[in-house]
Amino acid sequence: TERSIFLLPGDGIGPEIMSEVKTLISHMNDKEGANFKTDEGLVGGSAYDAHGEAISDSDMEKALAADAVLFGAVGGPKWDDVPYEARPEAGLLRLRKDMALFANLRPAICYPALSNSSSLRPEVVEGLDILIVRELTGGVYFGEPKTITDLGNGQKRAVDTQVYETYEIERIAGVAFEMARARGNKVCSMEKRNVMKSGVLWNEVVTATHKAKYDDVELSHMLADAGGMQLVRWPKQFDVIVCDNLFGDMLSDVAAMLTGSLGMLPSASLGAPDEKTGARKALYEPVHGSAPDIAGKGIANPIAMFASFAMCLRYSFNMIAESERLEKAIATVLDSGVRTGDIMSEGCTQITTSEMGKAIREA
Ligand code: NAI
Ligand code: MG
Repeated sequence: TERSIFLLPGDGIGPEIMSEVKTLISHMNDKEGANFKTDEGLVGGSAYDAHGEAISDSDMEKALAADAVLFGAVGGPKWDDVPYEARPEAGLLRLRKDMALFANLRPAICYPALSNSSSLRPEVVEGLDILIVRELTGGVYFGEPKTITDLGNGQKRAVDTQVYETYEIERIAGVAFEMARARGNKVCSMEKRNVMKSGVLWNEVVTATHKAKYDDVELSHMLADAGGMQLVRWPKQFDVIVCDNLFGDMLSDVAAMLTGSLGMLPSASLGAPDEKTGARKALYEPVHGSAPDIAGKGIANPIAMFASFAMCLRYSFNMIAESERLEKAIATVLDSGVRTGDIMSEGCTQITTSEMGKAIREA
């Protein structure tokens, strides 16, 4: 079977790191008959320069038709003054919305070779491998009403609204339980049921979903503030964490800092399974941005992009062995002591983006 991947390298270091993964994809086609069919489009500032919007309708159609989308990064000072609707991030937001990507998966993995570069003690992070599953299309970022009202007495009132319905909680909980089954078989659900009605419903629906379909997975609950504290104190107690859009935004950034290296962190955003085929729409991207400060120098770390492709192999193509091989290759290369500038430390050898790409492909 043919496997279609739509590539959106974007801006800044996006094309530099994507190019390394493209070479890997060609090698998998040539040497292993992987049968990937790739097509490439424009997103972000580069799309704006070409046709005045952050993603064109025809590229949007290709993204919707592909089995998976690989996304680099968007943005940069060149586009600071473009109209709001055409700003680079608008391309990513449209992809998330039109592809209905409701589940955001952010692993925080600490490679043994890098456990000294974290801001935490090595024993706290060494071997860390947790997954945060964040609801991405609902909650307080999208709920209505969303207003600022002038009260006329020199005061204003701002209103954001947290809204969740049963089906939204059910489907994100389902993703978390399924992910857990393929990992450490544990889910911790985080909310604030002590002060929020949406937290009460969240807790109720996660518990019911667990009981109905996933009672082989260990489930625990934590208030989200205490969860943040536990995440910093002893992160290895967690396997999969599931939470709403707002808490997930914050907790996944905290988890990112546990590993101490932005250039290493991948992410996946998944949609609902197709009723007939079971296939999910999916977009894979590094957590970091377009790094304008180092763009064009050939020194960006491509590991987050490779690790995002490893997630793509696993979740979109069920190529588990290949995915694990790629993840292992990353660890092996780091063990050998080569580093890009962002993760450089004493006694290691500094190499370029393309040298890192080549080393990973060879491993
Ligand atoms: P950033 O993630 O681009 O960079 C932060 C710092 O980390 C910089 O010093 C950068 O050089 C370094 N860095 C990031 N990725 C790296 C890599 N792979 N290798 C080596 N060093 C790396 O975040 P920043 O500076 O806040 O934003 C820059 C631009 O990226 C902005 O236009 C922002 O809007 C955009 N952005 C885009 C995102 C996306 O496409 N999903 C996410 C975050 C920011
Ligand atoms: Mg954030």
